[in-house]
Amino acid sequence: MTSLPEAWASLTDSEAVDRIAGVRSLLGDEVLVLGHHYQRDEVIRFADLTGDSYALAKGAAARGEARWIVFCGVHFMAETARILAEPRQRVLLPDREAGCSMADMAEIDEVEVAWEEMAAARDPGGVIPITYVNSSAAVKAFVGERGGAVCTSSNAGAVYDWALEQGKALFFLPDQHLGRNVGSRKGIPLDGMRLWDPSRETGGLGRDEVASAAVLLWKGHCRVHTRFDGKQIEAFRRRFPGARVLVHWECPLDVVEAADGVGSTADIVREVAAAPAGSILGIGTELHLVSRLARTHPDRTILPLLAGTGVCATMNRIDPQHLLFTLDELAAGRAVHEVTVPDGVAAGARLALERMLEITRRREAPRGALAAPSGLR
Ligand code: 13P
Ligand code: SF4
Repeated sequence: MTSLPEAWASLTDSEAVDRIAGVRSLLGDEVLVLGHHYQRDEVIRFADLTGDSYALAKGAAARGEARWIVFCGVHFMAETARILAEPRQRVLLPDREAGCSMADMAEIDEVEVAWEEMAAARDPGGVIPITYVNSSAAVKAFVGERGGAVCTSSNAGAVYDWALEQGKALFFLPDQHLGRNVGSRKGIPLDGMRLWDPSRETGGLGRDEVASAAVLLWKGHCRVHTRFDGKQIEAFRRRFPGARVLVHWECPLDVVEAADGVGSTADIVREVAAAPAGSILGIGTELHLVSRLARTHPDRTILPLLAGTGVCATMNRIDPQHLLFTLDELAAGRAVHEVTVPDGVAAGARLALERMLEITRRREAPRGALAAPSGLR
């Protein structure tokens, strides 16, 4: 955890929460607090806008009046906000160590090497790089400069369509599961989606495999969502007959196929809210969100799919003490834990992000329902 001055580190959660309310009202509209669904209750209660990665990126792009955007989420989300917000706005992440282990699985140097190796096997003009928003600004810039786009878990299908309609193959970074799940929904056979292992020469693939793939999937994953497997869903259904199972797109394919619905965190929140009283729902995503859904809807039985479902350790770094310190320092006229992106990188990354926003605006999927998995029963 980023070291905090003792005066803040020694506060209890409830002492910090009590003080946040005061400093928040002192700062007024100067500050916009954005909160991702995986944040803890004591933090997300102070968010002006809560949502999934897409909603929060749009919130930052709305370029409101606030001079300061305090991002309660992880580093790639704060970088995205920095890139999309007005230059005069400044973005703070209450704990600079709050990263995303999946985003860290695609280093820009490795991506550049992979692209060159791929280009030796096929015409790069026939391939569109697509990066999940869970990636560094440098990877987004790489993608943007090569005609590609960012996607989030709520618009990956639309971004996939955009690439496929151009008759191109996809180089999908860094979440192999999101890439495979969406590709499979688009009817791409599993053997047309090849796993690119950056630790091996030419991704561990033969020249023909690289040349013929419809999708090259970067070998990255989320450590929270890959703890789920299809057998857990079978066990859950045996224990709770009639239950509905909803999972996040970052889960492996067998989980998504065995579930009743798959979506982004915001899709899951909406689907749970729309479920009738008395429903039993098993949720395959991060524990803070599942626990909050259970508290918010006491008339439904909402359970984690797996008893040992974990929190996202990096999201969990943002605690009330760090949030309070960030706000107290702002009130004292000092910016701490600011997230910046060099102009040269921001320009390319903005291209990729704005392409995503444009694709999504044009093809916004009907809201309110999760995509039904192919294995729907
Ligand atoms: P969402 O965009 O669905 O909120 O997902 C972000 C994320 O990191 C999930 O692990
Ligand atoms: Fe990254 Fe997984 Fe945490 Fe999401 S849940 S921020 S993908 S580590």
